[in-house]
Amino acid sequence: MSYPDRQTAEHELLLGGRLNPGKWIEHSQNAALVCERIACMAEMDADKAYVLGLLHDIGRRIGFCGEKHTYAGYEYALSKGWDDVARVSLTHSHLFKDAALGVSEYDGTAEEWSFIKDYIAKIELNDYDLLVQLGDALGAADGICIMEKRFVDVALRYGVFPGMLEKWRRFFEIKEYFDKKCGCSIYSLLPEVKDNLG
Ligand SMILES: [Fe+2]
Repeated sequence: MSYPDRQTAEHELLLGGRLNPGKWIEHSQNAALVCERIACMAEMDADKAYVLGLLHDIGRRIGFCGEKHTYAGYEYALSKGWDDVARVSLTHSHLFKDAALGVSEYDGTAEEWSFIKDYIAKIELNDYDLLVQLGDALGAADGICIMEKRFVDVALRYGVFPGMLEKWRRFFEIKEYFDKKCGCSIYSLLPEVKDNLG
């Protein structure tokens, strides 16, 4: 299997939190819950969805950084032999074939950025990539919430940049895709969103 079991993944996140404490830990836990719940209804592997959601930001173990965390996670997961975790470390940030669209400026090396651009251009996003993108969008550090709330939170914190509207539209499409797969609104699987509208 190219991803760890749940216990190993939880331990890994704990270690990451010791190296770089921060809200990314709670965010990762909430993203994992979203992925797991949707996977159950969408007839996907719920353990795999949970683990990939939990570790999608594992690159943040290296300390405070921006998009660099995607490549850092990719490298770290590969070193562990967890190819599926490596993959979502990169794909969770990139909704489009053009890796530059909808993300802030890359803060790692030019070589890393060039690798990411090639990688994203070559692959087709699979259902787990899309699920983790959705989990990332709904699982805020302070709770699971509707996408619109998270979009505004992120925009207020980091500002707006080119491609953001396209990114938001794409997130709505991904939500619809999973609504169809689940045969219901995914929000009905996430009762927490009702407590998190304030
Ligand atoms: Fe994330």
